[in-house]
Amino acid sequence: MTSTTGIPEVRPIPRHIAIIMDGNGRWAKLRGLPRAEGHRQGVEAVRRVVRHCAELGVEHLTLFAFSSENWRRPAEEVGFLMGLFRMMLQREVTRMHRNGVRLTVIGDRGRFDAELQSLIAKAEARTAGNTKICLNIAANYGGRWDIVQAMNRLTRAHPERAGCYTELELQAELALGWAPEPDLFIRTGGEQRLSNFLLWQLAYTELYFTDTLWPDFREEALDEAVRSYQCRERRFGRTSEQLAVSS
Ligand code: IPE
Ligand code: IPE
Ligand code: MG
Repeated sequence: MTSTTGIPEVRPIPRHIAIIMDGNGRWAKLRGLPRAEGHRQGVEAVRRVVRHCAELGVEHLTLFAFSSENWRRPAEEVGFLMGLFRMMLQREVTRMHRNGVRLTVIGDRGRFDAELQSLIAKAEARTAGNTKICLNIAANYGGRWDIVQAMNRLTRAHPERAGCYTELELQAELALGWAPEPDLFIRTGGEQRLSNFLLWQLAYTELYFTDTLWPDFREEALDEAVRSYQCRERRFGRTSEQLAVSS
């Protein structure tokens, strides 16, 4: 069920958190360090947040690691980020596997080199049976790309029904079609925009923006975001009075 075809169940702990991990470059600049150092520290923040989400009972965590527009950055920085991603897939997966983390990668993989594509496939296959938490890494991901690829898959599978597809059918073809929609969206680093992240999936997600730079994002910062989430009234189009009656 989706937020527009039904009323999702609301729980105190978000089932799915989606994060734009922003501010690595500024974190480094503030310290007179190269941007790469900010990205390296950002990996530490990823470890902490995955662990803490698992402790809280969050079922899905989707992290924006590299957008379809991030190729526009200097080649040196793009190369460094690809190297970090490769390192994570080689070294972190064993630890994640031990901790029951299922890893999936969403985004257009076609632009990655063959070695990286094979590492992604292996990491996904190795952790496919894990159930503690599902960590979805968005890499070369764009929300518009996602909607177009879903539409293309649908038209290829059912050309005879062109013009009659339903929302649920399209949703199932999206990158996270098998997961509940994010309950909570967090963007660190002070910017208040979506930057082409999960455009479709965030339709009814609670949005939370913080000035904290991603490498400084600790367990307490996540707790604060969850507390803010717990104070929201998720109406999904209804009135407050209706909510009071139905609860
Ligand atoms: C986010 O940090 C990480 C990626 C986009 C890969 P930035 O690198 O965007 O950091 P700022 O926004 O320049 O501080
Ligand atoms: C969004 O951050 C992408 C990731 C965090 C991977 P950016 O730093 O690239 O976003 P803009 O360019 O400031 O919108
Ligand atoms: Mg940024």
